[in-house]
Amino acid sequence: MKALQVRIRKVRKGDVDRIVDIERSWHHLSHWSIDSYYRLLNDDSFTSSFVAEMEDAYGRPHIVGFVIFHIAADVSEIYNIAVERQNARSGIGKQLMVAAIEESGRRRARKVILEVRKSNDPAIDFYLGFDFHITGERKNYYSNPTEDAYVMELDISD
Ligand SMILES: CC(C)(COP(=O)(O)OP(=O)(O)OC[C@H]1O[C@@H](n2cnc3c(N)ncnc32)[C@H](O)[C@@H]1OP(=O)(O)O)[C@@H](O)C(=O)NCCC(=O)NCCS
Repeated sequence: MKALQVRIRKVRKGDVDRIVDIERSWHHLSHWSIDSYYRLLNDDSFTSSFVAEMEDAYGRPHIVGFVIFHIAADVSEIYNIAVERQNARSGIGKQLMVAAIEESGRRRARKVILEVRKSNDPAIDFYLGFDFHITGERKNYYSNPTEDAYVMELDISD
């Protein structure tokens, strides 16, 4: 299937409500408070985020996905990535992840890491498609419901 064309751009503070809507629509995701999103988005020196936008039926830009990640020294950590449910599996997550990996490389990260619920097979398949590898586990990392996480890692050192 042809990927939906989206525009990837840096997040702005006015995007938080839409990001929260998308995140809340996926029940298995850990939900962050609105304040945590504002705190993260204010921390320009460390946290990078992108949104994906499409035009709505009236030609207005509409956010359909986001990726939030943090680069410290040579490690980039993906905190959260999600695409609105009705547009999942249309290539939007891939475009967001490519943007995050490229930005991590530009900012001299040598690896990208993330945690994922062990039961989140679609996301695990998505990450394996980028050549992420499972490098460890974290016991009871998630709550509501309690679940272990896989730690996954992508080497971007060359
Ligand atoms: C995981 C997620 C971000 C992927 O984004 P997406 O836009 O749906 O994914 P894409 O369409 O770009 O898919 C790229 C590739 O990933 C894999 N993939 C994506 N969704 C998949 C699924 N449900 N099942 C199996 N493989 C999947 C496929 O290989 C796919 O390529 P293909 O469609 O050509 O086969 C999205 O499904 C989502 O928002 N999930 C809910 C939130 C979440 O769980 N985030 C991860 C938190 S750790």
